[in-house]
Amino acid sequence: MYKIAVIPGDGTGPEVIREGLKVLGRVSECFNIQFEFTHFDYGGKHYLETGEVLPADALKTLKDFRAIYLGAIGHPEVKPGILETGILLALRFGLDQYINLRPVKLYPNVETPLANKGPAEIDFVVVRENTEGLYAGIGGFLKKGTPDEVAIQEMINTRKGVERCIRYAFEYTRKRNKGKKLTLCAKTNVLTYAHDLWMRTFTEVAKEYPDIQTDYAHVDATTMWMVKNPEWFDVIVTTNMFGDIITDLGAMIQGGMGVAAGANINPEGVSMFEPIGGSAPKYTGKGIINPVAAILAVHMMLQVLGENRAADAVEASVVTTIGKMKSMNAGQTGFSTSEIGDMVVEGIE
Ligand code: IPM
Ligand code: MN
Repeated sequence: MYKIAVIPGDGTGPEVIREGLKVLGRVSECFNIQFEFTHFDYGGKHYLETGEVLPADALKTLKDFRAIYLGAIGHPEVKPGILETGILLALRFGLDQYINLRPVKLYPNVETPLANKGPAEIDFVVVRENTEGLYAGIGGFLKKGTPDEVAIQEMINTRKGVERCIRYAFEYTRKRNKGKKLTLCAKTNVLTYAHDLWMRTFTEVAKEYPDIQTDYAHVDATTMWMVKNPEWFDVIVTTNMFGDIITDLGAMIQGGMGVAAGANINPEGVSMFEPIGGSAPKYTGKGIINPVAAILAVHMMLQVLGENRAADAVEASVVTTIGKMKSMNAGQTGFSTSEIGDMVVEGIE
């Protein structure tokens, strides 16, 4: 019995999460896996009503679950930063989900903006460090609002944080068993201290993985190769900020926010699964948002739980469903949100 915490969140979050839960319901029937779902109403609406982002006991409560299924966080009436740091980052940090795993996989029949590239060329995974770097929130203002203002935001890189991320990436590359190649994406030519630590750690850990080919690309060059030669990549390991940026580019080349899913993983604790697109206020309540990304987040959850047969069945059904859809973009799929969920459900056996 898996206890799953569900945070539908804001905007279209609840609409896509509903479809993911339908899929888990079907998985439960077909594979004899039991789930128990508990819903939490954290998000913009809760904040506007109560002034509270996360309740004081939220982390303690969530630690009792096997996984968290998250829709989207972000509300047009809340100032940027409050919900993102107060909920999403607070959960990632508080639950020590130090890996953000983001597959960039172009499924058959999905349109990519890259010319002459198809599913054979676009299939790699980004391992993003998820608890440090520029996201650590260390800094402050001096003389705020005056002409002498100073704003400092420090980038934190600890040996422990860097090493556990790199080690995870090597293990993942070995387990994935595809190209057996791990590329470090950083900026060693400018960030001569922080990314020197990354490079040294990468080189040292690599010695324990003689079966894995290693490579290095600066982050700017990485964006170039992702567009020009995405087939060069198997697994990329990178920092929090760079991972954030390159995975939005990754989402675009794999067909858009309608298909991109990610997992915030604490290998020793509670992991959280989410579609990586935002709350999409302009599509909210219309029933036209594409739930495929949220369903692929379910696929990742099943993989991390070790339910591989169920995970494969979900992915196979998503592939069949995508084959019937006109587009991955909200409003252009040819189906309603719930019809897409139904098709995936029907295809699971
Ligand atoms: C993401 C998002 C978040 C991030 C924001 C909402 C804080 O862009 O999951 O990629 O920057 O990590
Ligand atoms: Mn992002």
